[in-house]
Amino acid sequence: MTEKPWQGRFSQPTDAFVEEFTASIGFDQRLYRYDIEGSIVHARMLARQGIIENAEMEAIAAGLKEILDQIEAGDFEFSVALEDIHMNVEARLTERIGPVGGKLHTARSRNDQVALDIRLYLRDEVREILAFLDRLQRALLDQAEKHLGVIMPGFTHLQTAQPILFSHHLMAYFEMLRRDRQRFAEGLRRINVLPLGSGALAGTTFPIDREFVARELGFDEVGRNSLDGVSDRDFAIEFGAAAALLMMHLSRFCEELILWSSAEFSFIELSDAFCTGSSIMPQKKNPDVPELIRGKTGRVYGNLVALLTLMKSLPLAYNKDMQEDKEPLFDTIDTVKGSLKVFAAMVPAIGVRADRMRSAAAAGFSTATDVADYLVRKGLPFREAHEAVGKTVRYCIEQGKELPALTLEEFRSFSPKIEADIYGHVTLEASVNARAATGGTALAAVQSAIERARRELDGTS
Ligand code: ARG
Repeated sequence: MTEKPWQGRFSQPTDAFVEEFTASIGFDQRLYRYDIEGSIVHARMLARQGIIENAEMEAIAAGLKEILDQIEAGDFEFSVALEDIHMNVEARLTERIGPVGGKLHTARSRNDQVALDIRLYLRDEVREILAFLDRLQRALLDQAEKHLGVIMPGFTHLQTAQPILFSHHLMAYFEMLRRDRQRFAEGLRRINVLPLGSGALAGTTFPIDREFVARELGFDEVGRNSLDGVSDRDFAIEFGAAAALLMMHLSRFCEELILWSSAEFSFIELSDAFCTGSSIMPQKKNPDVPELIRGKTGRVYGNLVALLTLMKSLPLAYNKDMQEDKEPLFDTIDTVKGSLKVFAAMVPAIGVRADRMRSAAAAGFSTATDVADYLVRKGLPFREAHEAVGKTVRYCIEQGKELPALTLEEFRSFSPKIEADIYGHVTLEASVNARAATGGTALAAVQSAIERARRELDGTS
């Protein structure tokens, strides 16, 4: 039986199932690197402050580095009896270097230690997620640039509304990702606060130097209240919320990719590398990757709600409930990273069927608004213009014609204000390029949106 660091107060061993039930080592072992990094800096601070001897610190730091190598090499046996990553590392340290290993935990508690580990870990993960987001944004920009000029139908209610540039549609997702990046980056500010030094809850009686620890570990701030330091998980919840929004965006994009790649739309072709077949229907090519990302959105929402519910009504300060913060957090990180990674690879491999998009855009009277706007410019009140064009569309449906196919006489039967120049307003290009203000779908507007986005990503704006 492994000796537990808190054995002193107990006369009976832990029930075997309770040991298993309360242990977190099965999942918190992924924090090992941060646990060791934090411990080494903590030991250095203790020595600087004269709380432990320099030689003791050297022995501790060397022992911890060996443990790190061991874990990295896969030769470390994690013990459930030692509950969590913190006690596993500490117990092994003492095994290796003797009783001096027991000095590492001076002026520290697992409560501030675990808060430190999660923050260090999440900080790295967020930085990685930001890099993935950058990659995906660039993939979108490349596609938007490559297919500039391709016209597709824009939809409201999933009904053809007005023609738009395919690139403009892609750039809408660019904007969503841009906000996602801002949210993750903003969250980093609150992740990057040092909790170590909070002790179990009330601080510590030792003359520690928290500012040194913060500097060494790259924290921008030192936590201002020890109770809050050990009991705050806002930063993880905020991260979970930013992740939920990101996944919601990806799920919308996925839904469109699924629709667009269907035989009914045929706007795009997804690369075979991102699809699978059916075991029974030989003709099938299923958009599994977008479907799966759409589906995974649910677990990220679930993890957010799990974290919020976990923290709800918890009295100050640390409570064992909080050990349950890790699995939802880790699952969100893994899901988001996996989804972004595959998405960034999938986007460049999307084949665009410009002909199909164009013919869909040309159908469905997508330039009807342009005729109405034309009449308004000729002095008709918008409501009357709307009425006249509504009747024109009804006539077109009866005649089986699209608007550009009407003769001038036919047009004029709905409003005498219509003249021959109407034909310059009902083409797809005219309709798209008429929307030239900032944020509109005109070629020049989209081109400058792409250029601005590129400058922003390159940090040259
Ligand atoms: N494994 C624990 C967790 O993840 C570490 C902190 C335990 N602290 C305690 N006093 N039991 O929350």
